[in-house]
Amino acid sequence: MEEKPIVAFRNVSFSYQNEAGENVPVLEQLNLEIHPGTYVAILGHNGSGKSTMAKLMNALLLPSEGHVLVNGCDTRELPRLAEIRRTVGMVFQNPDNQIVGTTVEDDVAFGLENLGLEPREMRKRIDQALQAVQMQGYEKRQPHRLSGGQKQRIAIAGIIAMHPSVIILDEATAMLDPQGRQEVCALVRRLNREEGVTVINITHFPEEALDAHRVVVMKQGAVYMDGSPAEVFAQVERLQEAGLDVPYAVRLRHDLAKEGVVLPSLLHQEELVVELCKLLLKT
Ligand SMILES: Nc1ncnc2c1ncn2[C@@H]1O[C@H](COP(=O)(O)OP(=O)(O)OP(=O)(O)O)[C@@H](O)[C@H]1O
Ligand SMILES: [Mg+2]
Repeated sequence: MEEKPIVAFRNVSFSYQNEAGENVPVLEQLNLEIHPGTYVAILGHNGSGKSTMAKLMNALLLPSEGHVLVNGCDTRELPRLAEIRRTVGMVFQNPDNQIVGTTVEDDVAFGLENLGLEPREMRKRIDQALQAVQMQGYEKRQPHRLSGGQKQRIAIAGIIAMHPSVIILDEATAMLDPQGRQEVCALVRRLNREEGVTVINITHFPEEALDAHRVVVMKQGAVYMDGSPAEVFAQVERLQEAGLDVPYAVRLRHDLAKEGVVLPSLLHQEELVVELCKLLLKT
């Protein structure tokens, strides 16, 4: 039997209203199912509708047509709103906009305040969440004094503490330095692999998509490509036509092939280095 999707778009269309009051379509007849425990990367050009999809997945927006289901529950069902928001946690681009507490532990506790938990359970969840993001010992620190990567990890701790099934990152690494990006990527990879959290990583960095089980490429509000990283990145030209970048190793392999130097399929920089070394040894 097919496993039930944790998030499903069923014929979803969505339009924004522009200043003249006209409807501007963003998503058209979108169908997409995301299965529990998977790591899905979403790539796509600016304005292709990625953030709109993210907001539809936790009922910040409702579809103009069609249905978005979270764990089988329609996002239009108002009484289920709190449950939906607990199931799907969102991390946004700017870590500074996500800080709500004056200390790290207050910040992580914020979302828990409305759950009516016993103080002891609350303490436990904060401790576990800070441990999961490797920020234990920072409880009394002021979040705004932390690095970008640390702030994003605190934002993620606030979400983990709610015990979500799905974490959506909407360009959550875009404002971080390389180290901060690496920290956040390693964390979400671990949450997916070890805790079984479904991860949806919307990103402009094609390298981050290599961590995913599945890559969905959006173009003008529709799914343009959908497959494993190997399947999607095998189609370099198709991606470049859509104005999208591919991982560095994939691009270099592709450019070398055009010059007549054919390397086996590869995705990661380390694989590229190995293949280039082999080639050098042969010549
Ligand atoms: N509040 C809004 N009002 C009107 N139009 C909007 C609004 N938010 C987004 N749009 C438009 O909807 C389209 C899709 O936007 P969306 O933010 O979903 O794209 P995106 O793929 O996340 O882009 P980016 O890569 O720049 O984050 C864009 O053309 C955008 O201009
Ligand atoms: Mg966006």
